[in-house]
Amino acid sequence: MIFDSKYDLKDESETLLLGKKIASHLHPGMMIYLKGDLGTGKTTLVRGLLRGFGYQDKVKSPTYTLVEPYSFNTFMIYHFDLYRFKNESEWDDSGFREYFNKNSICFVEWPEKAGDVLPKPDIAIELSHQNIGRYIDLKSYTPQGAACLKAII
Ligand SMILES: Nc1ncnc2c1ncn2[C@@H]1O[C@H](COP(=O)(O)OP(=O)(O)O)[C@@H](O)[C@H]1O
Ligand SMILES: [Mg+2]
Repeated sequence: MIFDSKYDLKDESETLLLGKKIASHLHPGMMIYLKGDLGTGKTTLVRGLLRGFGYQDKVKSPTYTLVEPYSFNTFMIYHFDLYRFKNESEWDDSGFREYFNKNSICFVEWPEKAGDVLPKPDIAIELSHQNIGRYIDLKSYTPQGAACLKAII
């Protein structure tokens, strides 16, 4: 871990805005973990991230499908929700490994459900409830991740 930032997010609009800011410093090949209890705003943050890339439609939570793809001109974004992921052997069968490549940006909710099979993230985000708002902790694990976190301060 080379950089750590923490913020209070007073309401949903602040979660969306932070997502938008992060998006402008992400590049194809990067991957972000999104941890935190149900209802802490992981999917809301992904909606903000996608808005940052110009996507304006509805963002479905991939709770049942496990992954939702978004196609852009020169890259893909994959939004995973592994809450219902059963075990590590399901990983090889799913073909998900190929989704993590130099032409894609991956956002992964509930990465802990995949055990040790996931690659290391550039940034690991942890959201938690705080009174009526949310608290967010962002940690970088690569130079690209650190550059992103430093750029949004
Ligand atoms: N900073 C915030 N303060 C208060 N409520 C928020 C905040 N960010 C998101 N929410 C709300 O939290 C609820 C759950 O969000 P969601 O993104 O579905 O959570 P998760 O994906 O972690 O289960 C939504 O109603 C959303 O509007
Ligand atoms: Mg969610």
